[in-house]
Amino acid sequence: MTDPSAPEPHRSLRGVLSDSLLWRLLTESLPEHRGKYLAAIAAMVVVAGATALTAWVMGAIVDSMTDTQNRSAVYWVAAAVAGIFFVKGIASFAQNVLLARAGNRIVAQKQMLLYNRIVTQDVAFFNATHTSDVLLRVTQSAQMARSVIDTIVTGFVRDLLTLLGLVAVMFYQQPVLSLVSLIVGPAAIFGVQRIVRRVHSIMAQEMAGLAEIIKVVQETATGARVVKAFALEHLMTARMDDAVRGVEQRANKMVRLEALTTPLMDTITGLAIAAIVVLSAVNVFGQAVGTPGQLMSFVTAFLMAYEPAKRLSRMRVSIEAGMYGVRMMYSLLDQPATLTEAAEPVDLPEGPSGVALEGVSFSYPGARGVFSDLTLSFPAGTTTALVGPSGGGKSTLLNLILRLYDPDQGRVLIDGIDLRAASFASLRRKIAYVGQDTFLFATSVMENLRIVRPDATDAEVREAARIANADEFILGMPKGYDTPIGENGLALSGGQRQRLAIARAVLRGAPILLLDEATSALDSHSEALVRDALARVTEGVTTIVVAHRLSTVLRADRICYLDEGRIVEMGSLSDLLARKGAFRALYDQQFAA
Ligand SMILES: Nc1ncnc2c1ncn2[C@@H]1O[C@H](COP(=O)(O)OP(=O)(O)OP(=O)(O)O)[C@@H](O)[C@H]1O
Ligand SMILES: [Mg+2]
Repeated sequence: MTDPSAPEPHRSLRGVLSDSLLWRLLTESLPEHRGKYLAAIAAMVVVAGATALTAWVMGAIVDSMTDTQNRSAVYWVAAAVAGIFFVKGIASFAQNVLLARAGNRIVAQKQMLLYNRIVTQDVAFFNATHTSDVLLRVTQSAQMARSVIDTIVTGFVRDLLTLLGLVAVMFYQQPVLSLVSLIVGPAAIFGVQRIVRRVHSIMAQEMAGLAEIIKVVQETATGARVVKAFALEHLMTARMDDAVRGVEQRANKMVRLEALTTPLMDTITGLAIAAIVVLSAVNVFGQAVGTPGQLMSFVTAFLMAYEPAKRLSRMRVSIEAGMYGVRMMYSLLDQPATLTEAAEPVDLPEGPSGVALEGVSFSYPGARGVFSDLTLSFPAGTTTALVGPSGGGKSTLLNLILRLYDPDQGRVLIDGIDLRAASFASLRRKIAYVGQDTFLFATSVMENLRIVRPDATDAEVREAARIANADEFILGMPKGYDTPIGENGLALSGGQRQRLAIARAVLRGAPILLLDEATSALDSHSEALVRDALARVTEGVTTIVVAHRLSTVLRADRICYLDEGRIVEMGSLSDLLARKGAFRALYDQQFAA
């Protein structure tokens, strides 16, 4: 993934606006919600007009109050003031609500897109991307994209129109003074710009700091056992402290820079008003400057112009800050999935299935090769035990059959069909898998089991649990099958978790069963029970079972000894024992004990 925090060369507003990702964001989002945006824009036009009228009517108020001849004008002016403010209030309300609704919809859509991208990523992506990064992308980047759209729409419509309206009022009331202030105004804006330019670079560091905070907290939560067992609390606390301090310092720096704009602007505003007051007292070019009402109206318009002008001057920086999130969002949305379904996927046939590897070479991304030119077949309905030293490639073999990875060379076949051609749905239906670690969701036992077959009845779920020898301990829990299990099932023992995983596989009832160290966490009594149960469910099922404990593999039809990605020995138990090779050595070692 490209790193969105990479430093950006300094860009002008034109540079920012010609960013192709910005156009992509706008053309993807605005047309779809054009109804809401057009309505919001209409409301903004009304707000801008009402704001300019407010400044104009200030003059009318002063003039009508000082005009002792025409008393009825006061009522008209009073009514106009009330009317203008009412209309402005309603239009502001409509603008805020419409803009927020369109924005919220866009956030929801983008978050869903991001999530879909993530949920379809392959395992390699999750190995390479830290969870905190994934979390930040889904939760934050869509929000930032939305703020970019908001900034552009309000900037170019409401703020620009309001500013133009106010400047028009200024020129209408006081052309000469307006010319003078047009020189002061841009100078002030320039000062503000210089300051906020630096905010942008701090922003990128700030996001990286936030990611670090999430990372530490999340690792503390999911790694609670390791953190406690190795007393790593002080280490984690130190990391957290660094991250939190960094974020705090940068936040303070940002606030200081942003707050600097206020005294700067206040000083300039004060000087400008003072200048106007002085000018109004003298005659310019031999003429009186204007009526008190005109002056009042001019000063009001001048002061009111400050806010929209400030926002416009900061627009580039606001957009740049948000573009950080937009880049983050699109770098994930554009992440090509390495494992994609074929354009015209084939459904694997129903019924018992044989599995085969043909000349398979494979290495994990950035690691040395695990297999080279491995050919091996697992006939339908047979049970094969994979044994061999740690790191020999047993789990990797299962990963390839699950198509969590594609081989670099060669093919993995089920019923003679290359997995790359098979539809995802039919492949997942074919295989049930029990892995080295069991992931349990934060829900009830019943739902944790049913998740692999949502249409299963309660009775079917319980039957599967019974086969996996899990029924008894489940019923012993406070609420039986309705007992909630904590995030990742922390409240269960390792053996209990494994039995739940086996129950899932049983419930799934797939023609291919892959077991990776499935019974390693069981005591010998429950292991024996599970083994018997598995013997029942593996009947007619193509089973590949990985186990270090030989007692688990004794009843396999075939044993395959894998070392460093190569098949060292393969055959029935009696064959391998007679051969007196690597397997025999392993066997003697375990049974001598
Ligand atoms: N995600 C990964 N990225 C890079 N290398 C990996 C990854 N997973 C495993 N490996 C490497 O691939 C090789 C085979 O690992 P594998 O997990 O298949 O071994 P195994 O036979 O299942 O071992 P064990 O009996 O300890 O479970 C090892 O050298 C391992 O370091
Ligand atoms: Mg393994």
